[in-house]
Amino acid sequence: MLTGKRILLIISGGISAYKTLVLIRDLRKEGAKVTCVLTQGGARFVTPLSVSALSENKVYTDLWSLTDETEMGHIRLSREHDLVIVAPATANIMAKMAHGLADDLASTLLLASNIPVMLAPAMNPIMWEHGATKNNVETLRQREIIFVGPTEGNMACRESGMGRMSEPEELLKAVHNFFLSGPLKGVKAVVTAGPTYEAIDPVRFIGNRSSGKQGYAIAEALLAAGAQVTLISGPTHLKSLNAANMIHVESTREMLEACEKSLPVDICVCSAAVSDWRATSMHEHKIKKEAGNLPPTLSLTENPDILKVISNHPDKRPSLVIGFAAETKDIEQHALSKLRKKGCDWIMANLVGKDKNGQEKAFGSDENQIYFFTRANEDCELWGCMSKKHIAEHLVIKIIEHFEKNRKND
Ligand code: C5P
Repeated sequence: MLTGKRILLIISGGISAYKTLVLIRDLRKEGAKVTCVLTQGGARFVTPLSVSALSENKVYTDLWSLTDETEMGHIRLSREHDLVIVAPATANIMAKMAHGLADDLASTLLLASNIPVMLAPAMNPIMWEHGATKNNVETLRQREIIFVGPTEGNMACRESGMGRMSEPEELLKAVHNFFLSGPLKGVKAVVTAGPTYEAIDPVRFIGNRSSGKQGYAIAEALLAAGAQVTLISGPTHLKSLNAANMIHVESTREMLEACEKSLPVDICVCSAAVSDWRATSMHEHKIKKEAGNLPPTLSLTENPDILKVISNHPDKRPSLVIGFAAETKDIEQHALSKLRKKGCDWIMANLVGKDKNGQEKAFGSDENQIYFFTRANEDCELWGCMSKKHIAEHLVIKIIEHFEKNRKND
C-alpha cells in the first residue's frame, strides 16, 4: 500500500528506538522508500549499520559531512520526501522543533522541511507532563504536526504512566491513514467479517463455515478507495489487514460491542455470518461423556442482531448500513423481507449450501453471485458470478456513487 512513498525517518535518542527498527522493516515491506537520519543520541541506541541494513539505504547522521553536502544537501533531503516521521521523538527534539533550533542534522532538516511531519513521542511520564513539554506539544499541534501516541504503560526506567512510544503497528497504521487517498477519503467504515463462535464449554463451540473472505475483500476495497476502515473479524485463517484497524472477536456479543464502540462511522457493512443462537449457559468445564449417560441437551438462546441494532441505533446510525443475506432458497423474497425487518439500506443476498456437484456456493469459495436490493428501490439487481474481490470492488463503486449523489444533494 505504500509503494513509491518516500519517507524521511528521524530517530532521536530514546530506548524505544529499537521499535523503530521494526517500523523501518514494515515500511519497506509495503514498498516505501525509507531514508533515515540518526541524531547523536539515536546512534547510541541503534547503530547506523542496523538502520542502513533495514532501510537498504544510506543513513545520515552529520550536518557537516562534506560528502553528504555534495551528494545531497540537507535542504534537498528535507524536501524530497512525502512525509517526515520522528520516532522516537524525545522531549528535546520536540523542544527544538517548537522553538526553531537547528543545531544538528535532524533539527536542521525539520526546520528546513516543508512537508508534513509525524511525531511519535517517547519519554518519561514526568517529562511528558512537564509544563514545558505541554507548551511545546501545543505549539506543534497548532502547526498541524501529526502526533501518534504516546501511550500509557510501563517504562524502561521502571516508572509507569503516559510516555511510551506507540507500537510499530500503530505507527504503520497512522502512516497508512496519512497516505489514504481516493474518493472515500474522510469516510469512516466498519466491516464485520467471518463467523462467530459461541462457546458451549471450554473446548466446544457453535460456529459456521464462513471464511471471512468476502468481508476482508470489502475492507480492502474500501481502503483502496481511501476510506478509514475498522475490520471486526470473527475467527478466520485470513491475514490481518495492516491498513485497517483490526479488532478480533469470537462471539456475537463481542462483535456487537466492538461495532458499537467503533461508532460513529459513515458506513457499516455487516458481512459476518453471525451465529443466531448461543448456548444458554457456558459450562465451566468440558462436558464429559460418561458411560451410560444420555447425550446432553443443548439449550439455546437468541443472540443480539448486530445489523438490526446498528440500523436502528438511536443516535449514531451510520448513514449507509449494508447487510448480507445467506439463503438456501427463495432468495429474493427472503432478502426483501430482511431488508425491511432489519432496517438496513442495502442487502446483498447470495445462495449458500452445496451445488449439484457438491461444491460450496459461497462459504469458503472464491466466487459468489449477488442479488442486490436497496430500500429506495426494491427491484433486484443481479450481479453475475464474480470473484469475491470483484464483488467487493463493485460494491465500493456503488458506495462511492451513493456518497457523491448525497454530496450533490447537500
Ligand atoms: O438474519 P440473517 O442472519 O439471515 O441476516 C443476515 C445479515 O444480518 C448479515 O448481514 C449478518 O451479518 C447480519 N446479522 C447480524 N447479527 C445477527 C445475525 C445476522 O448482524 N445476529
